[in-house]
Amino acid sequence: MVISNSPLVSPDKYMGVNPRLKIETFQEKCPVAAGEDVIKGLTQTPKTLPAKYFYDDRGSLLFEKICALPEYYVTRTEAKILQDYASEIAHLTGPCEIVELGSGSSTKTRILLEAYQELDHPLHYLPIDISGGILEQSAYDLLKDYPKLNIHGIVSTYETALKNLNPSPLPARMIGFIGSTLGNLKPSECHVFFSHIVEALQQGDYFLLGVDLHKSESILVPAYDDSQGVTAEFNLNILRHLNNIFEGNFNLQQFEHWAFYNQTEHQIEMHLKSLRSQTVELKKLNLAIELATDETIHTEISRKFELEKIQEELRDLGLVSLKTWTDENQWFGLILCQLQGN
Ligand code: AVJ
Repeated sequence: MVISNSPLVSPDKYMGVNPRLKIETFQEKCPVAAGEDVIKGLTQTPKTLPAKYFYDDRGSLLFEKICALPEYYVTRTEAKILQDYASEIAHLTGPCEIVELGSGSSTKTRILLEAYQELDHPLHYLPIDISGGILEQSAYDLLKDYPKLNIHGIVSTYETALKNLNPSPLPARMIGFIGSTLGNLKPSECHVFFSHIVEALQQGDYFLLGVDLHKSESILVPAYDDSQGVTAEFNLNILRHLNNIFEGNFNLQQFEHWAFYNQTEHQIEMHLKSLRSQTVELKKLNLAIELATDETIHTEISRKFELEKIQEELRDLGLVSLKTWTDENQWFGLILCQLQGN
């Protein structure tokens, strides 16, 4: 597969000031903190890596490829729900600033933007993504296609962005977290994450959450182990990304993609299996690690949810669900909640 190494955004696009666009980058506060999560993950047993390291520009493009795979039903199923119900969502919330966590290419968000455009009021979109290249590229594409759209993008982790949001320029705010990215968080991390969401909302504001639901293993496993090997390449890309940012020497040939469904936890797990015993160095982190043959690095969980349970958890935090939508197979769920006082 060929993924271009050229920057996603050509330099001429930076020329001139567009009053409808602002992009901010928040670096993590403490520079030495960068990479501490990698050191922690790679020095524990079993070894793990935080899933956010998948998403350099190349990783984001590989994920876009995954979304188009015949086996990866997730994106397509959610897009269909959005197509069917976006205008209902827009009417339920009325005018609101749309904040999106993990906006990526913003492809599905276009469906929402179109529905909100129909309400005929100023459109304010605040995409948040850890990958600056894809955020900038999609911001420029959106500005061209939506003449009334204002974009304030933030390149950072979710946590940092949520803590630094300005008040909404519109009467309400909706934070969108679609695509089932929530599945990457362990239950304990989910809880902390939801509390950050609550802190970024005012009473009456909205949270739109897309979650992948329980389904048979025969559908789940191929979605994370596709026949073209795109998911394998996406998984391995995490090592390439670490090589780039931390002067590492992971040899991608010496690792193998491994994905399976963990029935007890209701989660897909992705790991990278070391094909031989080897030592890997990450110079910038002053780190050398040993891997035995067949030893694994756990790179991702992708949890599958039950609508009722997740609604209950949200309700406990004041996020009352106004309406939920699913597809005809009930493979994917979309929940619209509102922050209500208690
Ligand atoms: C972007 C986190 C929703 O878990 O389905 C796709 C990432 N990993 N194939 C998911 C992913 C492997 C995806 N999320």
